[in-house]
Amino acid sequence: MTERKVKTIAFANNKGGSGKTTTCANVGYSLALLGRRVLLIDGDMQLNLTLSFFPEDTVLDYACGEKNLYTAMKKEEDLQDYVIHTPYENLDLIPSSTLMSGIEYDLFAKWQRELILSRSLKRLKETGGYDYILIDAPPTLGGWVMNILCASDYVILPVEASPWGLFGVANMFEFLDSVKKLVPELNLLGVVITKMDARKSYGRQTLEALQEFREVNVFHTIIRVDSEIEWAQDHSRPVMAYKKSARSAGEYMELAKEVESHVRGSR
Ligand SMILES: Nc1ncnc2c1ncn2[C@@H]1O[C@H](COP(=O)(O)OP(=O)(O)O)[C@@H](O)[C@H]1O
Ligand SMILES: [Mg+2]
Repeated sequence: MTERKVKTIAFANNKGGSGKTTTCANVGYSLALLGRRVLLIDGDMQLNLTLSFFPEDTVLDYACGEKNLYTAMKKEEDLQDYVIHTPYENLDLIPSSTLMSGIEYDLFAKWQRELILSRSLKRLKETGGYDYILIDAPPTLGGWVMNILCASDYVILPVEASPWGLFGVANMFEFLDSVKKLVPELNLLGVVITKMDARKSYGRQTLEALQEFREVNVFHTIIRVDSEIEWAQDHSRPVMAYKKSARSAGEYMELAKEVESHVRGSR
């Protein structure tokens, strides 16, 4: 049997609405279409990543039952038994729960509390047969996001191309610096500019401001505003599965290829 070395990528930014979940779902789906085996982990109490693949009643069944990330974290159990299949080939998911809102409290008294997720993922990483594990982080900077980053090899920062898109990015970089003291091998793979409106010049400005602020890889692929994304989410589908010809479907496929080439180039 050939050994797979799984790469774990977190999608994080403390600013809400920056496109973390949309990017995680659609890059994951594109990688699966390219034949890679992908596991998505919904780390946010808003359940948006789970809702990207399943209708609301199914999502609530998982969220209110036991088969979700929150239960596994609270019981410090191996995540192997929490994986569900999405309707798509090569694409699995671990659902979230609204109870994730209390995760900071629940983790507080645990031994090595920033490494709970990392420990629970160990067996899946070794024997799950995945090429990629993509983790969608909530818009916070605390112990739980620390857990997500400690369990990851890479982090991708989606930044919205808007005047406020950059707001708070400095905090995010500072947070990443502190996490890197714990896990020096964590690698900031790059920033993705999302929700760029072609009629406005903010996208370019966002990019330039970012690069001035810190030397950082900015992915060439920019995700533009596309209403098909919202329609697709309304139908619990990745945009490519909803409308193959959608502009953002092509952009996310390009981004997935770019992500893969960076991951390959970095090791
Ligand atoms: N490229 C895009 N074009 C149009 N709407 C988008 C695009 N990307 C994301 N959105 C919308 O913006 C909102 C925030 O995106 P989301 O991925 O949930 O961000 P986050 O996870 O960072 O909070 C969602 O309502 C989503 O439908
Ligand atoms: Mg989100």
